[in-house]
Amino acid sequence: MTQTLERLDHLLSRLGYCSRSEVRKWLREDRIRVTGMATPRFGSKVNPGDVYIDGEALDPAEPLYLLYHKDLGNVCAHDDPRSIYDDFPMRWRYRRPVLSSAGRLDRDTSGLLLLSDDGQWLHRWSHARNAIPRHYRVLLAEPLRADAEQILASGTLLLDGEQERCQPASMVRTSTHELRLTLREGRYHEVRRMMAALGNHVLALHREGFGPFVLENLAPGEWRYLHREEIYQEP
Ligand code: URA
Repeated sequence: MTQTLERLDHLLSRLGYCSRSEVRKWLREDRIRVTGMATPRFGSKVNPGDVYIDGEALDPAEPLYLLYHKDLGNVCAHDDPRSIYDDFPMRWRYRRPVLSSAGRLDRDTSGLLLLSDDGQWLHRWSHARNAIPRHYRVLLAEPLRADAEQILASGTLLLDGEQERCQPASMVRTSTHELRLTLREGRYHEVRRMMAALGNHVLALHREGFGPFVLENLAPGEWRYLHREEIYQEP
């Protein structure tokens, strides 16, 4: 099998471990080991799978593909004291290319997000053309009006300040104040604004599914790598 070799200094800096100048220091301190190399050097060409820092294997050198459970109160921005990116290893903040989410959830919404540093993959999972179903659980302040299901399914709902009507959405009423809602588009604060257009107010919002993905048993703030077959499936 052919292996992609990369300069040690480039590899460690693009994976966010340390700056290129720190690589020399870490080598002097004997913190970096490379299988099959007695004395690895700054510019040694290495296979990422052979490199260990303080005895630990490196993070994946290829693109990252993650399934994540966003907690309430956190935001999908990089530069915020409540950033979701604090739930991932600190060094990933310095990784290039940067890790981003496919779409966003607002601060007061919990649930499923996909993340990656592969721009094309993110585009595929967030592009409107693919009309990926987003599944939400919604808790309302007031009882849901009787004709809500028909209105949502009709594709006639107009959100405040918008010209274009919402795409048809489906729902299942689970109690007087609760529903499961499936949308195939992702506008700004869409669920909250849809419920406002129906004369209601969202008290709690959770995304439990996105396309074929579900949260399974990930607790808020937890994440996992996607498997190969999950990454390469069609949206
Ligand atoms: N709709 C909202 O109102 N907020 C979200 O975070 C996602 C969908």
